[in-house]
Amino acid sequence: MLKKKLKNNAKKVDSFIKSYLIKQKKSQLLKPMKYGILSGGKKIRSSIIMSTGKIYKLSLKKLLFISAAVECIHSYSLIHDDLPCMDNDKFRRGKLSTHAKFGESTAVLAGNSLLTLAFEIISDKKFFLDNNKKIDLIKNLASSSGHTGVAGGQELDLKYEKKRKSPKQIINMQRKKTGKLFEFCTLAPLIIAGKSNKEKKNMSKLGEDIGLLFQISDDFLDITGTKKKIGKLIKKDKKKGKSTLISIMGLKKAYKYANNLEIKILRKLKKHGNKAKELSNIVQYILKRQT
Ligand code: IPE
Ligand code: IPE
Ligand code: MG
Ligand code: MG
Ligand code: MG
Repeated sequence: MLKKKLKNNAKKVDSFIKSYLIKQKKSQLLKPMKYGILSGGKKIRSSIIMSTGKIYKLSLKKLLFISAAVECIHSYSLIHDDLPCMDNDKFRRGKLSTHAKFGESTAVLAGNSLLTLAFEIISDKKFFLDNNKKIDLIKNLASSSGHTGVAGGQELDLKYEKKRKSPKQIINMQRKKTGKLFEFCTLAPLIIAGKSNKEKKNMSKLGEDIGLLFQISDDFLDITGTKKKIGKLIKKDKKKGKSTLISIMGLKKAYKYANNLEIKILRKLKKHGNKAKELSNIVQYILKRQT
């Protein structure tokens, strides 16, 4: 049931991005960009945006602009994450990673272009929204993606390889590299709905926690998953000496930490009643997922 819903949401975002790109001028980078963003991927961040939007009764159209922008940032981060200078992965979403298919320089530039496309999409005139809210969205998406977010977290992830790090340091790194973009996913709908700062703060924190949970589950799948199901090579984290909660506390303790985090998130979501059912279902799916 939920899986079907996630697939359906992914389809909607993919077709939005496809039609957005069709309207743009042509370039040599379009093909690797499409390869990096459209072919595969769960688009779980989009589903989180849509299910948060449901709590505030927002229209799908507005949420699609936000989802497309977030998926641009996410796919850019994966294209760069796979580069030889980072995780050096040749396989992603069940096929060759973008640099393995098109070459390194093209992958870097296609990644850069997806990063900037995200901001083009949010500032598009066709995205009907009060300009002050748009500026707020752009500012928050920028800080979630840059040195205080994804990029900053990625830097720490790489610097922490083969080093003994504390749980606190690892959690902080994962909150940045993955949590911050999820934070934007649960914050953006409240910006659109014009909610209070207090409500925004609470929902942001929840999103960051969901992102942390998602990254820990990704770390589990690197050990317990199959290449066929996750579409990536497995057992790469240990080989690279990645610092994860699993690497420092073992599978069992790390699972317990993640499970407690899930319980904490669900407890907070309960306050929103039935309207948050779909978001709660996604949270419950994260640790159980096999893909
Ligand atoms: C993988 O993200 C990288 C992480 C931040 C854990 P996803 O598991 O969302 O990747 P796709 O988009 O579905 O391929
Ligand atoms: C990637 O984390 C996080 C990003 C922000 C790109 P990983 O390096 O664990 O993601 P995978 O396992 O390669 O998808
Ligand atoms: Mg990485
Ligand atoms: Mg990686
Ligand atoms: Mg991983």
